[in-house]
Amino acid sequence: MARPLQIVPSVLPADFARLGEEVAALEKAGVDGIQWDIMDGRFVPNLTFGPDVVASVRSLVTVPFEAHLMIEDPDTMINRFVEAGCELIIVHAETTRHLHRTLGMIRDLGARSGVALNPGTPAEVVRPLLDMIDMVLVMTVNPGFGGQSYIASMEPKIAEVAEWIAAAGGGIDLEVDGGIGPATIAGAAAAGANVLVAGTALYRDPEGLAHAVTDLRSRAEAARP
Ligand code: DX5
Repeated sequence: MARPLQIVPSVLPADFARLGEEVAALEKAGVDGIQWDIMDGRFVPNLTFGPDVVASVRSLVTVPFEAHLMIEDPDTMINRFVEAGCELIIVHAETTRHLHRTLGMIRDLGARSGVALNPGTPAEVVRPLLDMIDMVLVMTVNPGFGGQSYIASMEPKIAEVAEWIAAAGGGIDLEVDGGIGPATIAGAAAAGANVLVAGTALYRDPEGLAHAVTDLRSRAEAARP
């Protein structure tokens, strides 16, 4: 049974001076969730927002929030983002010494657990942990900034993870993030992704957010295996 297709925006390109209106507009546009790109200026060469900013808009919308923790030593911040209203916490495999324990911490807090893999990180890292993972995120850019080009050579890695997920019963989401837009979403979906994160492509659509969401969704649905 294929996992439902989800279009999840990154708010990185949003107007932070109007963040409340921006998340409301995303919900109105029909997104399936909102991804918060949390960056610490150490793991990635950029700095974004913390749990208090996420919490400030939580009550304005009902769509699920996910925190993409691009931060060193995520164990110290997981509970803050769960408290801020994130239902899914994604840690980078490259940032924690004891990934199995970190995933258990996330689940013990009542959240869903996600593992993100940088382009240079082999998919093998998640294979022994699939029973602890609710979503695998295969990055198709090097994390830190929106508006980068999609790394198509990640598609075999997406397909490899999709195979393992199917063999494990199919109960895990497969997310792709980075350079997702009208020209690239089909490749990611065809490789097996069911959750597609887009930032720049949504905000660049001249016909607006709702059109961008609908267009990306239909392109991805048409390409799914
Ligand atoms: C990278 C970020 C971006 C963002 C989406 O660290 O994670 O991938 O979510 O950016 P776009 O869709 O503009 O590539």
